Amino acid sequence: MSSTLLSPMSLVCRAPRGIHYPVLDFLAPCTISAVSRQSSRFHTSPPRSSQPPITPQPSNTTNAPPSQSPLPSQPSKDGPTKPIRPLTQEQRAFLSSALRVNQTGELAAILIYAAQSPVLTRSHPHLRPLMKHMYDQEAGHYKYFNEVISKHRIRPTAMTPLWTAAASILGWSTAVLGREAAMACTEAVETEIGTHYNEQVGVLVDWAKKCEARGESLGPELEALIGELRRIRDEELEHLDHAVENDAKAARPYEALTEVIRGGCRGAIWVSERV
Ligand SMILES: [Fe+2]
Ligand SMILES: [Fe+2]
Repeated sequence: MSSTLLSPMSLVCRAPRGIHYPVLDFLAPCTISAVSRQSSRFHTSPPRSSQPPITPQPSNTTNAPPSQSPLPSQPSKDGPTKPIRPLTQEQRAFLSSALRVNQTGELAAILIYAAQSPVLTRSHPHLRPLMKHMYDQEAGHYKYFNEVISKHRIRPTAMTPLWTAAASILGWSTAVLGREAAMACTEAVETEIGTHYNEQVGVLVDWAKKCEARGESLGPELEALIGELRRIRDEELEHLDHAVENDAKAARPYEALTEVIRGGCRGAIWVSERV
């Protein structure tokens, strides 16, 4: 997600010592300066009646007095502007966990394909373009989520070193077992990660519908995130299809292999959401 795309939600205020903080960051922690907390309407609870909310100002006018508009708003397709609904604490916690899992999951996917490719393409050179295609897409996903968690200061999971080793071992060992086992690994991993992305899209679309019913908006940044999650989910499911087309179900023992890998993925997701 480019900074240009996010710029409407990324207003910056100047803190003491010239440090810049994003103040309309939907996941920004509440430990930033009092000045930015006061201006961070997008990531705080709904305004108290005694505290007039603040409308975001262009970045070059952040020292100007705040206006008295009730909520930030964005242009609507229907004409009038819609106020942007601030996220609740629970919603921010959900997004932090989900995006942390997404980032480490994409790193694991890269490492699985990187470990599989040399072994697999030596004996099956015709798979080289497919493996490169899937690797390149995973690298794009990883780059995207890296940028998102950096921008919103979401910590990566502390389990990254363990997942790094586990993903490399999984990729190498399934490739050594053969083409079918490697493809069964892809099928299992992509089934779990596709489900994971689909659940995130469902939650965010539900938020958007509730905002819409109130005449409000999630804001352009979260709407863009929904679009990116849909695109990435579809690419993961495309990888799943490629695996099945390349005889994933001929792996022996297929059931045991895929169930163990899928269980491992679910466990890693559960832990990464929390640690
Ligand atoms: Fe991916
Ligand atoms: Fe994938």
